[in-house]
Amino acid sequence: MPPALETSRLRLRPLTEADAPFILKLVNDADWLAYIGDKSVHSLEDALRYLREGPIAMYAALGIGLCAMDLKAPEPRPVGLCGLLVREGSPDVELGYALLPEARGQGLMREAALAWMNYGDRQLKLREMHAYTHAENDASQALLARLGFALLPPAPPDEDPATVRRHWRLSFSA
Ligand SMILES: CC(C)(COP(=O)(O)OP(=O)(O)OC[C@H]1O[C@@H](n2cnc3c(N)ncnc32)[C@H](O)[C@@H]1OP(=O)(O)O)[C@@H](O)C(=O)NCCC(=O)NCCS
Repeated sequence: MPPALETSRLRLRPLTEADAPFILKLVNDADWLAYIGDKSVHSLEDALRYLREGPIAMYAALGIGLCAMDLKAPEPRPVGLCGLLVREGSPDVELGYALLPEARGQGLMREAALAWMNYGDRQLKLREMHAYTHAENDASQALLARLGFALLPPAPPDEDPATVRRHWRLSFSA
């Protein structure tokens, strides 16, 4: 199970089934659909399935996974997801994230991402961390660049440049 982490404005904690209403809202946001993809979550039941088969299953299997970002004030409420994950068929530890629209533009994802980067470096002793963005996702690419991630060489030219995913990597010093 991932730990709970505190930052100045946020509490980062594992998701639970009680987060289904929040998940239903977040994964149907226009930017999530455009830049991450359609998870076919159209009801609270679908959101429960997403939680159980996605983040909660990954916590049990790997001890990491996307976690909730609770804004601490004025009263605790989830505003986004951020965490470390591993995709099937890949050895890479990836940083994943998404915010509700009303929580963007305040540096909250930078705050959450720095906490998980620090955890990956200090606790998990990772040598590097990866991230993938849609080529047109400017906000996400600006975030990664500000966090110190480097853009890796582009995918082969036969891929459609509008939809190709960009691969970013952060190396931790030994
Ligand atoms: C990608 C995403 C998380 C970026 O969110 P964000 O709020 O822009 O990210 P940050 O936390 O880095 O905030 C930076 C913005 O907050 C502003 N800001 C305000 N106060 C700040 C502070 N104390 N510290 C840092 N930035 C601050 C910055 O100026 C910047 O605004 P700008 O983009 O207008 O220049 C968000 O757009 C999102 O959820 N998109 C949909 C899902 C998605 O695409 N996920 C990524 C898939 S790869």
